[in-house]
Amino acid sequence: TRTPVNVTVTGAAGQIGYALLFRIASGQLLGADVPVSLRLLEIPQGLKAAEGTAMELDDCAFPLLRGIEITDDANAAFSGANVALLVGARPRTKGMERGDLLSANGGIFKPQGKAINDHAADDIKVLVVGNPANTNALIAQAAAPDVPAERFTAMTRLDHNRAISQLAAKTGAAVTDIKRLTIWGNHSATQYPDIFHAEIAGKNAAETVNDEQWLADTFIPTVAKRGAAIIEARGASSAASAANAAIDHVHTWVNGTPAGDWTSMGIPSDGSYGVPEGIISSFPVTTKDGRYEIVQGLDINDFSRARIDASVKELTEERDAVRELGLL
Ligand code: NAI
Repeated sequence: TRTPVNVTVTGAAGQIGYALLFRIASGQLLGADVPVSLRLLEIPQGLKAAEGTAMELDDCAFPLLRGIEITDDANAAFSGANVALLVGARPRTKGMERGDLLSANGGIFKPQGKAINDHAADDIKVLVVGNPANTNALIAQAAAPDVPAERFTAMTRLDHNRAISQLAAKTGAAVTDIKRLTIWGNHSATQYPDIFHAEIAGKNAAETVNDEQWLADTFIPTVAKRGAAIIEARGASSAASAANAAIDHVHTWVNGTPAGDWTSMGIPSDGSYGVPEGIISSFPVTTKDGRYEIVQGLDINDFSRARIDASVKELTEERDAVRELGLL
């Protein structure tokens, strides 16, 4: 029988954790034939709730689940980790400035990056979900100099999925007919969902929609502000859809993008499309055999250029701020 894949989840007792763990344990993260062993990292106050979740995981009698460890020690949690889902983060609370938020999260992601550097398996793949996800991923990556930088990624798949859903609703297409959509930049209100290269049943999406006003005034803000709309409606932030996107992100990274399609991932820039090297920005990527590549050669029109640049500017400002805080 196969050796189980070690999957570490931080913030395991939170609402995304609760939606995520059962899907990992059921085989949806890595595949229906891949046994998994879970490591749950929480802060001391979260341990008891994590134990409750572990009891429920036991009660599912998942055939693929080979073990659950619960700890508040990052070194133990990342020991031998093959996949790490960094979900736990410090949320912005009232009156908190951006600098306070970045420094509070630096206090979480810097030591976790170091623990990954020192204890994770050689093939470690990291997905940062906890916000500000791109910059938290950068902090963790900088603290892990022995791990190849490209193993640190940030989640923009929820934005990608939201954009597909909005485009399908607008055009009456099935979500499965929509391909090659791209989220560029930061997982924040400045993100840019790009349909100029997207296809709907093989036809160019922007030409099919043919409505730049809808694009600028409805589609882009709806996707970018969807998180706030969910909070407004549900009284709590997106959890099941965020967990679903985390599953999709890792599943695609490990198992590959379908021919003729791509996905969106926040990844360390190699300078492609004028995005400064090193910052963690969302790009169109194809994946194969556990590796990803930025889709090259796309024509970027003025409409797209201005929006990509604005989101990238925000990312460079976040990078400069955490550098000043000594977190890089
Ligand atoms: P939550 O507040 O329900 O859960 C967070 C959990 O993390 C808590 O149980 C807390 O005890 C734990 N935690 C805090 N610091 C920790 C540490 N140092 N180590 C381990 N665990 C720690 O929050 P929720 O709803 O599960 O969201 C988690 C994060 O995901 C938030 O930062 C949220 O903004 C972000 N998010 C990101 C999305 C994306 O698309 N990238 C989408 C939705 C949420």
